[in-house]
Order: sequence, then structure tokens, then C-alpha cells
Amino acid sequence: MKPWPAWVRIPLLLSAALWLAIAIWVVWDNWGRQAPTAPTSTETQSAPTLDQQIERGQYLAQAGNCVACHSVRGQALMSGARGIDTPFGTVYSSNLTPDKATGLGSWTAQDFWQALQLGRTPSGRLLVPVFPYNHTRLISRSDSDALWHWLRSLPPVHQPQPAHTLRWPLGTQAALAVWRSLYFDASSTAPTLPVTPTPVQRGAYLVEALGHCAACHGQRDALGGFPDVRDLSGALMPGQGWYAPNLLSDAQTGILSMDSAQWLRRLQTGYNHRSVASGPMAEVVQHSLQYLNAQDVQAMLAYLQQRARQAPQTTPSPAPTPRWSVLEVGQDIYKNQCAQCHGKEGQGLPEAYPALAGSLAVQLSDPTNLVLSVLQGGFGPSTQARPYPYGMPPFKMALDDRQIGAVLSYIRSQWGNQAGEVTPLQVNRIRARQDQ
Ligand code: HEC
Ligand code: HEC
Ligand code: HEC
Repeated sequence: MKPWPAWVRIPLLLSAALWLAIAIWVVWDNWGRQAPTAPTSTETQSAPTLDQQIERGQYLAQAGNCVACHSVRGQALMSGARGIDTPFGTVYSSNLTPDKATGLGSWTAQDFWQALQLGRTPSGRLLVPVFPYNHTRLISRSDSDALWHWLRSLPPVHQPQPAHTLRWPLGTQAALAVWRSLYFDASSTAPTLPVTPTPVQRGAYLVEALGHCAACHGQRDALGGFPDVRDLSGALMPGQGWYAPNLLSDAQTGILSMDSAQWLRRLQTGYNHRSVASGPMAEVVQHSLQYLNAQDVQAMLAYLQQRARQAPQTTPSPAPTPRWSVLEVGQDIYKNQCAQCHGKEGQGLPEAYPALAGSLAVQLSDPTNLVLSVLQGGFGPSTQARPYPYGMPPFKMALDDRQIGAVLSYIRSQWGNQAGEVTPLQVNRIRARQDQ
């Protein structure tokens, strides 16, 4: 056979060499790196006792919301197997109890730290990025050790991790490796926290490392790339459809102008004089934020406020008042179906039913959460202080798209509220996403 001419051979060879180099780099990027064996002693003033470490570890597991993802209601704490829906399929969390066969029984503290740092198990298995290891890699070594000691103190439970049901080839190690090389910076080293951090530094650590707020409040691209750990600019959560607001925008969350005590109450208990945390945020309060001490939630607020002061603040311009024919329908529904809880004037009931008048959530330009609230109903968080939360019934069956649009357009334009109309088409799109 005649050899291929040079103008075919050379580009072919070059591109083969390029692909080989990329492949070698991806392999090294994912499996070649080791987590540093950081000294623990520089971070803590005096060595804590084991009991202190275990207690601290439990607190950190709550602050990091590890408990919510790694436990199933009614099953043993941290035994995993919780299914988490993503747009690419369902992912199951792993068993973190000290069981030898199915948990972390044969791991060392260094293996655990490496998993938090690099998202990789001791055997080299790359972990799916539902586990937010872009955030856990910022956890300090002494906190990782405290978490580890707490996990070791739990009873071992035999609970195998169910297989993920990700669409082929997304669950494969090769696809994960390429994805990680694109989105996960394993090369940066975790910053060391000063022994006595300022409130803003402590708040940054809680928000960016443990609390992984950007996992919901930060923006992802179509491939589900990790958002930047500092991105709090607001995002539509993939899979669940909720909109997590821009935490640095005063217009969206009242971060600068709301009374600090009320803002903290809302964060720590889910309720305050005017609003109630809903949907995925209610779960964050329930599993995580309610357990944080006052100093730590204040530190979070200090950090968020400092960033909000540097962020551009815009006031949304008032939207045109919805048509009267729509408002008439909306008013009727409101009086009959909503006013008994939210009040005739949308004033709500403090610490129970959210006020709709003057509510920032009701006036968000993106009406997604409102439509979801009315379709699905829901509960505020159940906490130690309030074990039986107040609830709202679902209106999915009772109201059609036109009626939901009308009642939402009504509450968005009454009592001083100035947000735009919600159309039946918008409601329909959100309903269709839910029914998929
Ligand atoms: C949003 C949900 C979520 C949160 C929050 C979360 N994890 Fe996970 N974690 C997962 C999932 C899902 C896996 C399984 C990944 C896989 O199998 O590829 C996992 C895996 C792990 C593993 C690997 C275990 C193994 O056997 O392979 C460790 C270690 C771990 N998580 C620790 C933690 C710690 C510590 C925290 C809190 C700081 C935490 N996780 C928070 C979802 C989560
Ligand atoms: C699992 C996803 C998720 C995580 C993680 C999460 N949030 Fe949220 N958050 C949401 C959603 C969705 C909303 C909108 C629903 C609502 O207003 O309650 C929200 C709303 C909020 C609000 C606005 C509520 C208000 O006061 O009107 C604040 C403040 C907030 N989150 C703070 C945080 C902080 C701080 C963290 C990190 C510790 C965090 N969130 C982590 C999903 C999340
Ligand atoms: C039985 C009392 C009850 C009724 C009736 C009720 N709600 Fe609610 N509503 C609640 C509670 C409690 C919450 C907070 C829990 C949650 O968001 O899931 C809430 C939350 C909301 C929210 C979210 C507010 C926010 O700050 O995020 C909206 C919007 C809302 N309701 C609108 C309506 C509309 C419109 C109707 C009538 C079609 C209605 N509600 C009927 C109790 C009620």
C-alpha cells in the first residue's frame, strides 16, 4: 500500500500526540496528586482531648451539612445511601460510619483528609461532584481530624452504597476525570486559617468551606461545572428548579438594609417577623444552620455584609401594574384561599405565616419560587425550637395555570409591592418541569 502523503501524516501524528499528552495530563491531574500531610499543631493553640475533638467534629458536620446528605430519615446516622437527584441521574451518598466492609472502617485520618481535599478514595476511585469537594478542600486539617474522630465514634453500620444511576458515560471514571480536569482545581492548597480569625475571616470559612453556600447560590454551566466557591450571585438550582437568590444583593435578601437581628433569626431559625425559609433553604436551616452558635452566624453575616458593600447594588425598576381582568381573578382567589393564613392585607403572622406585603421573595423578578410554593405547598423548617412547622397546602390540583398566574400577579402588585405579572405560560413551564 502506498504510504499516506506527508500532508496527511504530519497533522495526524501531531493530533495523536496532542491527544496523548492531554490524556497523560488528565490522568496525572486526577490520580497523580497527593494531599499534603499538613501539620496539625500550628492551627490549634493547645492539643484538644479526644472528647473535645468528637464534640467539635459533630458541630462541624452540622455546619457542613454532611449529616443531611449522608443520612436517610429513619436509618442510622451517617450510614449514607441517600438518593440525590441531578439532571444527569440519581447519585447515592456513601456510608461514613466505621463499618469495615461498607463504610470507612479501614480508612486513616490521612485518607479522609485526602478525600475531602481531592475528591478521591484511598483506592483511587474519583468521587462524583455532588459531594461538594471544591468546598470541602478548604476545610482545615484540624477540622478534618475533628470530623474524622466524630465519625469514628459512631456505631459501625452495614449499609452498602447503592450504585449511581447516571446516564452513560457520565458515571464512568474516564468521564469524571475529564470533567474534573475542566472544573476542579486540585492544585491549589487550602489556606491556613489564623489561630484567632476575625469575624469576617471566620464567616468566609463558614460560607466557603463548610457551609458550601455557593453550591446552590452560585452559577453552574450546562455541564454542571462547580460554581466558584465565592460565587453567591444567585442561581436556578439544577434538578430541583428552585431559585437560590443573590446573597450579596440587598434587593433580593435585605443583606444590608434589614435589621441584623431579624436577618440572623431568619438564618438560624428559618423564621422571623416577616418571612419563612422555604424549599431547599428550609432543609439547610433544619439540618445545619439551627445548630450553629450565635458567634458563627454573626460571623457569616459580617462576611456577607462586607462583600455586599463591595458588590454593585441595583434597585429593580417597578414593573407595570398587571391588567385589571387578571387582578380581579387573583383577588378573588386570594380572599378565598390564601387570606386566612397570609392576612387580608398580606401582613402574615409573625414567626408563622410569611408576610407577602413588602416581601423581597414575593417581588423577585424571577417568580419560580412563588410558583413552586403554590404548586407544591410546603413547610418551614422543623427545628428544636419549633418541632412542628407551619405549613401551606399544595394547590397543584385546586388551581390551574391561569389562576396561579392571577393570584401571584395579585400579591406581587398589592400593598406597595411592585413586581411584574406572572403569566399562565410561566406557570405552565415550571409545572411541566416538576412533572417530568
Ligand atoms: C450535597 C450532598 C453532600 C454533602 C453536603 C456532603 N457530601 Fe459527602 N458525599 C456525597 C455523595 C453523593 C458522595 C458519594 C460520591 C461517590 O460515590 O462518587 C459523598 C462521598 C463522601 C466521601 C467519600 C466516602 C467513600 O466511601 O467514598 C466522604 C469522605 C465524604 N463524602 C465526606 C463528607 C463530609 C465530611 C461532608 C461535610 C463536610 C460531606 N461529605 C458533605 C454527598 C455529600
Ligand atoms: C441546598 C441548596 C442551598 C444551600 C446549600 C444554601 N441555600 Fe440559601 N437558599 C436556597 C434557596 C432555594 C433559597 C430560596 C428560598 C427561600 O427564600 O427560602 C435560599 C434563600 C436564602 C436566603 C434568603 C432568604 C431570606 O432571608 O429571604 C439566604 C439569606 C440564604 N439562602 C443564605 C444561605 C447561606 C448563608 C448558605 C450557606 C450557609 C445557604 N443559603 C446555603 C438554597 C440553598
Ligand atoms: C394554611 C395556611 C396557608 C395557606 C392557606 C396559604 N399559605 Fe402560603 N404559606 C404558608 C406558610 C406556612 C408558608 C411558609 C412555608 C413555605 O414556604 O413552604 C407559606 C409560603 C408562601 C409563599 C412563599 C413566601 C416566601 O417568602 O418565600 C408564597 C408566595 C405563598 N405562601 C403564597 C400563597 C398563596 C398565593 C396562597 C393561596 C393560593 C397561599 N399561600 C395559601 C401558609 C399558607
